[in-house]
Parts: sequence; C-alpha cells; structure tokens
Amino acid sequence: MTEQPAHRADLRIDVDALRHNVALLAERAQRSGARTMVVVKSDGYGHGAEVVARAALDAGASALGVAAIGEALRLRAAGITAPLLCWLHVPGDDFDAAVAADVELAASSAAELDAIATAAHARSRVAKVHLKIDTGLSRNGCPPELWPALVERAAKAQASGVLEVAAVWSHLACADEPGHPSIDAQAARFQDAYEQARAAGLTPIRHLANSAALLTRPDLHFELVRPGIAAYGLDPVPHAGDHGLVPAMTFRSEVVLTKRVGPGESVSYGHLWTADRECTLALVPVGYADGVPRNLSGRMDVWLAGRRRPVVGRVCMDQLVVCCDDDPVAVGDEVVLFGPGEQGAPTAAEWADKLGTIHYEIVTGMFRPRVTRTPTEVAT
Ligand SMILES: Cc1ncc(COP(=O)(O)O)c(C=O)c1O
Repeated sequence: MTEQPAHRADLRIDVDALRHNVALLAERAQRSGARTMVVVKSDGYGHGAEVVARAALDAGASALGVAAIGEALRLRAAGITAPLLCWLHVPGDDFDAAVAADVELAASSAAELDAIATAAHARSRVAKVHLKIDTGLSRNGCPPELWPALVERAAKAQASGVLEVAAVWSHLACADEPGHPSIDAQAARFQDAYEQARAAGLTPIRHLANSAALLTRPDLHFELVRPGIAAYGLDPVPHAGDHGLVPAMTFRSEVVLTKRVGPGESVSYGHLWTADRECTLALVPVGYADGVPRNLSGRMDVWLAGRRRPVVGRVCMDQLVVCCDDDPVAVGDEVVLFGPGEQGAPTAAEWADKLGTIHYEIVTGMFRPRVTRTPTEVAT
C-alpha cells in the first residue's frame, strides 16, 4: 500500500520577497555604514532557517543570528559558512561543538565567558565572543554593576589568545514604540558599556538595533544591525510609514467540497451561524490543528475565487466552512488564509490584530505536521 500524504495545507515561502526585504534593510543599514545580521532563530521565524539564511546572504546580509547552538549547528551542517552568532545559552550547551563549527557566541556572564574560553582552549581555536550588556530589558545580558568585571575578564582572556571580543551588544525593549523613553535610556547605558570596554583595551563593534530600530533609529545602527521580523516582510512599526516590505509567507489550502444550503440551516459545532438565505458553502480541510486559531471562529475571512469571503461557524480541529453566496466555487479552488495581502486579502498581521497578539507569534507557529512548506521563487 502506498503511503497517503497527510498534508492539507501549504506554507508558500516567497524567496524573492525574502531577498527583496533583506536587500531593502541592508541598503538602509549600509547608508549608516552598518552591516546586516539577519535573525533566523526559531526555524527562520517559521519560514525555514536554511532557505531564509541563503536568501538573506544572497541579498546582502553578512551574518546570521540564532538563539540556540543547535540552530547554529544545523545551519553549519547545511553548508552555511557565513558568520553566525548564537546568543541564548542553557545549562549543558555544547560550546565545544559551537567553537569547532566557528559559531560566534554571546557571553552575558563570567561563567559563560569561562566556559567559552575553556572550549576554545581545548580546540586550540580563538573563539569570537559578543559581550552582552543588559541595558534595561532585564532578560539575559550582564547587569551594569557586573559589567566592569566581565570586561576585565574578557580582556585578560583575549590577551591570553583564547578568545577575541568581537562585539559589545544589547537588545531594546520598546523599539516598536518609536519615541518611547526607554530607547534613549538603553542607548545611553549601551554607550557607557561600550566606553568601558574600550577603556579596557578592547576594540569591539557594537550592535543594538532590531527591525524596528533599524527602520526608525538610524542613529542606533552602529556597525551592525540585527533585523528579524522585517526580513520576513512583517512590519514591526506599521504606523511609522510604509516601509515597502513584502510578507514572505502565504498560508493556503483548497476547497474539497461544496454544497448548497437553504435559509435556517446552521453550520459547524455549536451552530453559531445560520444561513439567512440559500447559499453555497465551501469546505476547507484546515483547522486549529493546522494553525487556524479557533478563536477566529466567526471573525475571519479567506481569499477564495477572487474575493474575501467569511469563514462561518466554528473553526474545527481539521476543517472550516466558507460562505460563498451564489458564486461559482469548485473543488480544487485555491483558498488563501493569509498572505501578502494583495487586493485586500487577509494577512498574518490581520490575524494578530484580531487575536490581540503580534504577527511574530502567528508565523512562528504555522509549520505543523499536516502543513507542507514550499519555497518558491521566480528570480534565479
Ligand atoms: C537578541 C535579538 N536580536 C534581534 C532580534 C530581531 O528582532 P526583530 O524580529 O524584532 O527584528 C531578536 C528577536 O527577538 C532578538 O532576540
């Protein structure tokens, strides 16, 4: 017996859009003299880390950033040789493997710095370390009161030849709220930390800006910027103007059944929707198991047969129903659940607004067991 495909929907990843976005971001960074590190953590924000990494490097990024050493090693195993920074370590992390694979490592504490130095010594390598200062986000990063000691320790380790302090860096809490006072406060602490590193004889580059700061604060570009979400075409500061980004992910399925129902007929669990006239219903074989939030029941549209149409009744685990009035829809017609939003079709940002969350959470959660992911490109 041949194995039956289980997929019911597809994530189309528009590689040309990824390239377009990264080229646009890298050009803005370049105007300030900064290079661009594209953040591909969490499997490239759900788009596929390797595909995004290659597109980003093609389009002008000079480095990549990830959270976990495993993510970095997977990119190396795929043949990606570009500079690669990894920043969120957990107990038991294999710094040895990271150093051996030439992965640059963040250090937020003396313990992390020492562990990296030990791995580099064992491998007879010079580890590239990015010292992270906590300027006010209060997640990882070295607290300012411990910074002088960390810098001194790093300078000693650098002098002994086991590591090179490549950068001083930090992360902003409220860059997506341009004008928020914390941005300048963090920038001032960042400058202090950098000056202390310089005073200790180090010559690191600086990086601070995520997508929102890249788009709104050119004065904070320094030598390197670290955009994530904007590379995927999702705008973290949509109220600050049109930045020309193109969403790269389209979530699509197709009609698998149509039927006519008369007035008074109700649809799906709980009978939340009842037809007030005769109409055609289209069944789409995707549900909350495939990433369509049940919470959008009764308040989402899809793009089908040339226009937006409402999903009616509850979104179920495996299926949802679309009201198509009297329009001719047929089995096999494409259904776009979200995408770049051309002609007013739904977008991931629209889902996020309705759900009271951010588009980051939508796209990073879309790759599911019954959903395929297909990179597409026109340009060669
Ligand atoms: C340390 C760090 N830098 C940069 C980014 C990219 O941020 P954004 O996706 O908002 O551009 C992230 C993402 O959360 C991050 O954790």
